[in-house]
Amino acid sequence: MEKLKVAVIGAGKIAERLHLPGYKETANAEVIAICDIKKEKAERLAKMFNIPAVYTDYEKMIKESGADAISVCTPNYLHEPMAVFAANNKKHVLVEKPMSITIPAMKAMIAAAKKNRVLLMVEQSQRFDPAHQALKEILDSGALGNFVSVRGKIGHAGPENWSDDSPWFFDKKLSGGGVSVDVGIHILDLIRYITGRDVKDVAATMANLVKKQYNLEDSVEAVINFTDGTMGVFSTSWCTNPYEQTVTVYGDKGRATVWHGGTEGGKRLSGYYVDLKNPYGGNTEIKAKIPELPKTGKPIQHFADCCQGKQECISDGTSGMKSMAVMLAAFKSAKSKKFEKVGV
Ligand SMILES: NC(=O)c1ccc[n+]([C@@H]2O[C@H](COP(=O)([O-])OP(=O)(O)OC[C@H]3O[C@@H](n4cnc5c(N)ncnc54)[C@H](O)[C@@H]3O)[C@@H](O)[C@H]2O)c1
Repeated sequence: MEKLKVAVIGAGKIAERLHLPGYKETANAEVIAICDIKKEKAERLAKMFNIPAVYTDYEKMIKESGADAISVCTPNYLHEPMAVFAANNKKHVLVEKPMSITIPAMKAMIAAAKKNRVLLMVEQSQRFDPAHQALKEILDSGALGNFVSVRGKIGHAGPENWSDDSPWFFDKKLSGGGVSVDVGIHILDLIRYITGRDVKDVAATMANLVKKQYNLEDSVEAVINFTDGTMGVFSTSWCTNPYEQTVTVYGDKGRATVWHGGTEGGKRLSGYYVDLKNPYGGNTEIKAKIPELPKTGKPIQHFADCCQGKQECISDGTSGMKSMAVMLAAFKSAKSKKFEKVGV
């Protein structure tokens, strides 16, 4: 089997926890090089994952390593220049969420990938959770009737609990925002994926309620209107401890929920239930089997398969841009106190 040769930029937490274990589990891919401006970080992961080449200059790595594809695992403001450079050198690109921090930057990424006929995939990991895919299947099957609305919540205790070496998360110029772009983008993108709908406009309220040491929003509540007149709400926070993630879709015949919250004995606690209206007015609960918890390899396997033409990408650049554009409109709305149109 021909293996996709991959080079990874950024030897931080997401490379260590998702990309590198993911490529290790993916039979049709291999990581041949890794780059970080902090050489010792790249060397550490190279040793852990048996990666033959280490670089500190990503342009040199892209040009010289012989990679077919690049994983971009760096702070958000670097996604655009790195993805564009990789695409212009005919490399497929897997870029971490959020895709980038402005609409022109995201358009430049899409244009570079199109011009060079390479894949641009955005690593929106929630789309690959089997429980979320099952929820989408239930909605798409019509079992809940016609789609009416959706509610989503995601929250955790903040990036300082994820990495102690990443001050960029708290600098708006480098990150593009606080919890909205760090975690909120996950639930909003998941809502768009499950419902298969585009957002027309958004009204959001944002505040810094707990993390006073940072000049960024740590709490967001928002209302969205989809282009077809259906609606939803989402909420995100860096002040939710333990971790919580819930999404419920409502149809005119029933509702379905998936939730993940906290862990017990190292196992993640999850729930999954579907209620359908019965003719006597009460609810009939269908106990659905909780699908297996996500495997690190899923988005990475998908990327490798898409690069090799074996699958159609379910998280491409246009889709990543549409999700991030909602967050950019939400920032506007939090200031204007009005509904704001989504810019793409
Ligand atoms: N999908 C998810 O659930 C998820 C979770 C966490 C983070 N992320 C995303 O992953 C990306 C990275 O986050 P992280 O938590 O790994 O951050 P991190 O700070 O742990 O890692 C970033 C790495 O990039 C390196 N770097 C910075 N500038 C560089 C340059 N010019 N060239 C090469 N390397 C450079 C840093 O030295 C650092 O090692 C972010 O976009 C973040 O939003 C996604």
